[in-house]
Amino acid sequence: MAKLYASKSPEVSQRELDNMDRVRKIAPQGMVLLKNESVLPFKGVKTIAAYGGGVRRTVKGGTGSGDVNSRMVINIEQGLTDAGFRLTSTAWLDQHDQNCAAALEAYNEEIKKTADGRNNVIMAIISNPYRDPDVPEIIETDLVQKADACLYVISRNSGEGTDRHPVPGDYELTEGEKQNLETLGKVYDKIAVILNVGGVIDIKFLRGCPQVAAILNMSQAGNISGHVLADVLTGKVTPSGHLTTTWAENYKDYANAETFSHMNGNTDEEYYTDGIYVGYRYFDTFDITPAYPFGFGLSYTQFDVKADSVKIDDANVVVEATVKNIGSEYSGKEVVQVYCSAPVVGLEKPYQELVAYAKTKELDPGASQKLTLCFPITSLASYCEKCASYVLESGMYYIRLGNHSRNTHIAAALELGERTVISVLKNKVVCNVELEQLSNKGATPYTYVGEEAEKSNVPVITLNPKAIPCETITYSGEPEEMTTDKDYTVTLEDVIAGKTDLKDLVAQLTVEEMAILTVGTARKGSIGAGSAIGTASNVVPGAAGDTTSTLMESRAVPNMVLADGPAGLRLSAHFVADKDGSPIEGLGDSGFEALGALMSSGPKPERSAGAVDYYQYCTAIPIATLLAQTWDLDVIEEAGDIVGGEMELFGINLWLAPGMNIHRNPLCGRNFEYYSEDPLVTGLCAAAETRGVQKHPGCGATIKHFCMNNSEDNRYGLNCHASERAIREIYLRGFEIAVKTTQPLSLMSSYNLVNDEHAANKYDTLTAILRDEWGFNGFVMTDWGTTGMGDPNPGQKYPFSDAAGCIKAGNDLTEPGNEEDVATIIRSVDAKEGDEGVRYPISKAELQLCAYRILKIVVKCVADPRSA
Ligand code: BGC
Repeated sequence: MAKLYASKSPEVSQRELDNMDRVRKIAPQGMVLLKNESVLPFKGVKTIAAYGGGVRRTVKGGTGSGDVNSRMVINIEQGLTDAGFRLTSTAWLDQHDQNCAAALEAYNEEIKKTADGRNNVIMAIISNPYRDPDVPEIIETDLVQKADACLYVISRNSGEGTDRHPVPGDYELTEGEKQNLETLGKVYDKIAVILNVGGVIDIKFLRGCPQVAAILNMSQAGNISGHVLADVLTGKVTPSGHLTTTWAENYKDYANAETFSHMNGNTDEEYYTDGIYVGYRYFDTFDITPAYPFGFGLSYTQFDVKADSVKIDDANVVVEATVKNIGSEYSGKEVVQVYCSAPVVGLEKPYQELVAYAKTKELDPGASQKLTLCFPITSLASYCEKCASYVLESGMYYIRLGNHSRNTHIAAALELGERTVISVLKNKVVCNVELEQLSNKGATPYTYVGEEAEKSNVPVITLNPKAIPCETITYSGEPEEMTTDKDYTVTLEDVIAGKTDLKDLVAQLTVEEMAILTVGTARKGSIGAGSAIGTASNVVPGAAGDTTSTLMESRAVPNMVLADGPAGLRLSAHFVADKDGSPIEGLGDSGFEALGALMSSGPKPERSAGAVDYYQYCTAIPIATLLAQTWDLDVIEEAGDIVGGEMELFGINLWLAPGMNIHRNPLCGRNFEYYSEDPLVTGLCAAAETRGVQKHPGCGATIKHFCMNNSEDNRYGLNCHASERAIREIYLRGFEIAVKTTQPLSLMSSYNLVNDEHAANKYDTLTAILRDEWGFNGFVMTDWGTTGMGDPNPGQKYPFSDAAGCIKAGNDLTEPGNEEDVATIIRSVDAKEGDEGVRYPISKAELQLCAYRILKIVVKCVADPRSA
């Protein structure tokens, strides 16, 4: 029987309290003050008229596998009350609550009618998520008693499986919200609007409403959201977040607004005609003024940001800057950002790209700090498809420094006399259709008064092309079959003891054993099979899946347990195990909060004699976007450390996070799980969070979803067509940074197709790029159910991916995996194309390689945690 790590005590633990304290320090640093006309922080305020859906129904993070089952959520109402404020709006809040309860009941009835069984219910919830009804009208009599301050909280929720829509209640404000703000505006001349959102919403109405004097994007800050917000509103802490995604004035201002996901009615094919022009790269190059630009964020104080020097050190650019708090009342932290505008010679270039950033410590009024920002010259290169190389074109590279993308000044120009190749590759993700890509030809980019003068007056540093390193990649060929001369049964213990090599063990495994090892454990009759995607672990209730323990007896190979994130660790908060320690399915929590009411009507299993209750309360940390908005990698590492600590405690080996897809469009249902529209921010954040997790012995991160999973509708069958340059520079770059700098122990491939081939079956990304080019040392797993577990995806344009195709591509593990996947792999070994049921013939050597890579991580994670 597997060891149970969960606690038998339902009491709040010291660990929970400590982690809440840590989150309380982290979260304000990612909250972004967008507007503040002398409203915040509140002074002399005792009573607050707090309206809006999010006051009581505060969203701690999104839904689906990205949700975390924490003990409780401190909503804004409680946060404000605990901070000593009295709310004058409780009657209105009660009314909204009643309306929501009725709406939820009706929704649940509808779901029960259409879906039967746990998996179907989850799928129904995912494709048709519950939304709160519009807010009740605020009537004049509600406002007779005037409060000292007025707060309006707008909340939005989203999650996997469905993209958002540019409609009221989602991307746009509802009529009720607008009307409420107008009503409040008649009584209060200064309203502070709080955005409790996972991503961008339409902000036009708020910007046009004269009484909205402050806007704070509190984002979604985890289970103590209300306390964090109270700290910010009272001025106990100064918010110091900056946006990591452009907030447009109008939805249609985004480059792909009309074609993204469901917007053009086609969710089979997604054409990335925006190419490299994503986020600010688009807004700047085509001079579209955003509501709030990338990198933007205010503070309760003001800062002066000045470049001191720009130098070349070896093959790096080193920028020194001084930041001074020039305010007189509040301390605060400032974010310094360095951008580069590369010469437009042969290849198209965006107006500017972020190349480095840093954040100050807390600066008291009058205090200053010197910051050093450093980046390799090679990071300024662009991918040339014609020559299959990254190149630095000749000309001037302007280095800009400031505190957001539309507030920079040129600090230096780097002059490169000749075109310089920095890496020689092969094209691996060539676009298979003629894409009419957006071009900057004839476009006038953004500029500002004095830009031309700055260009002619800045110091020019001449780069020496010979001093810039260049690498040439050698790609691997077909793997060779592993053989052994060991005539005894090799076990993993022998390998760990250094008695023999892991290859000897793998060489002794049969095809059947390897097929079982390379497929997760959701077999018929197991908890995993009865369970839904995302809660398929047979070992730790609520964890997403396991690797096999079938080889435990014969080879001493233990299983690994995999659990979701990214906003903490997703486990069942409460479960019941029989007297032998086996979890009893159906007792305790479902693992998905939303399922509670829907599944409770079925018959409950018996609670056997001697059964014991267990608890796994995990900390809901802030969503990834909020973490990125801190622009502080130490803070993000600490968030990873919180999760790593809980992984150790609950016996989890691999965290299914960080999520690293790009905010290509604000409607992606999972943007809250991802960091940014910018690949550098994405890569650095994922690396920092991975470091935090992997500090813990036996714990590893799983960066996901590799790659191009930038939307959710029809996620199993969406075929993304993009140019090799855009794929490499925008959508792979973050993964590349994370892999090269921190070596996450694993990586999850995505559901979608990339240029006609399933990401999970794509050798060129999973082996040629990930391993041969970047040197990835971990193993790759699929996303949950991407093979359809035997189902061909009837009625859909593209069939599911294939378990043997995974092996061929170097996608080592299929999760959560069932007997169909095992059978597919077995019949595909040494098969021929056209053989019945064989889509991808594979060799024994290819299967061995996958088994080998999984076992390498088992050794790190489970058998010898100190080496992880
Ligand atoms: C999600 C993954 C998640 C997995 C396991 C899938 O539906 O796309 O991000 O890790 O489920 O829960």
